[in-house]
Amino acid sequence: MTIPAAPLTPYRPRVFSGVQPTGNLHLGNYLGAIKRFVDLQDEHECVYCVVDMHAITLPQAPLELRRATREVAAAFIAAGIDPKKQIIFNQSQVSAHAELAWIFNCIARIGWLNRMTQFKEKAGKDRENASVGLYAYPTLMAADILAYRATHVPVGEDQKQHLELTRDIAQKFNFDFADRIRALGLESGEFFPLPEPLIAGPAPRVMSLRDGTKKMSKSDPSDYSRINLTDDADAIAQKVRKAKTDPEPLPGEVAGLAARPEAENLVTIFAALSGRETASILGEFGGGQFSTFKNALVDLAVEKLSPIGEEMRRLVDDASAIDAILLDGAERARALADPVLRQVREIMGFLGR
Ligand code: AMP
Ligand code: TRP
Repeated sequence: MTIPAAPLTPYRPRVFSGVQPTGNLHLGNYLGAIKRFVDLQDEHECVYCVVDMHAITLPQAPLELRRATREVAAAFIAAGIDPKKQIIFNQSQVSAHAELAWIFNCIARIGWLNRMTQFKEKAGKDRENASVGLYAYPTLMAADILAYRATHVPVGEDQKQHLELTRDIAQKFNFDFADRIRALGLESGEFFPLPEPLIAGPAPRVMSLRDGTKKMSKSDPSDYSRINLTDDADAIAQKVRKAKTDPEPLPGEVAGLAARPEAENLVTIFAALSGRETASILGEFGGGQFSTFKNALVDLAVEKLSPIGEEMRRLVDDASAIDAILLDGAERARALADPVLRQVREIMGFLGR
């Protein structure tokens, strides 16, 4: 006798996002992602993940991976995410991610992955020598999100294409198995949601302090290109003062920032950190010397970031406390993801429970 499976359940609103533990968390990660994780936590059920399995798509030294994993978790907490209310954990502790990623490898098409610009950038010229994991990276990301049937994903602008691929995978899964999903009791046929990217916000794309046409990045060889969340007040001041600008003073109006990427970037950072409108900032600093504006930006950045950096350092020093938070988060994450995987196995026709 076969035991009839419980009917499939509909999904519910849920937020999911991930950050790679690959060193040098910076202002772009904070403004584009982590700060927004904090803003979402009061109104939504949120799952925030340190994606250590994504990190190893490029070589990582094991002890550095551990340190960086704790550091990202510390940044989440220091920025204000409450690990009791929301789930904070590292990806590799929850096997549902890898399991669902394999299934999605069989749903996604090679043609879809061939269009991913981040792979082309990261693989560089020597594409033959890139890891298979780097190529399949977006299917693991889709699995991260859909193992929780998450509906909303706060990310920076650079992740837009990966989110589109996630939606394509969800849609193809729902379509390919529509009859089976209905037969198992879900009338809508929509087992996976098509997750929506939350990319808006004041600074979805923070640029390098050395080159306003390149995004601020963990991997830029110049430390002067980014403000790290662990930088102290002196480092922040030096980096802002040395930030590239053009010889003109700041314009009085927003339109005057066009074709001035470095000036625009610094004003955008100011706006995002202060919560003020660009127009009001230009009203105050337009026409004046760049150095006056930079001094104000130093004060603002130090005021907003150094408490986070200090708290991160304090948390990272107590490794066992962070590890306990990640362990507890992983257990709660498993309690959400394992039932989803059970339903997926049922849909696919895999035998067993
Ligand atoms: P990663 O460091 O690649 O794991 O990125 C973590 C999060 O930070 C993702 O949501 C990215 O989109 C976001 N992010 C990374 N760099 C930037 C940047 N320069 N500006 C805005 N958001 C960024
Ligand atoms: N790919 C993302 C980045 O590099 C990190 C990531 C992995 C992620 N899985 C995710 C982001 C799921 C949002 C949702 O920034």
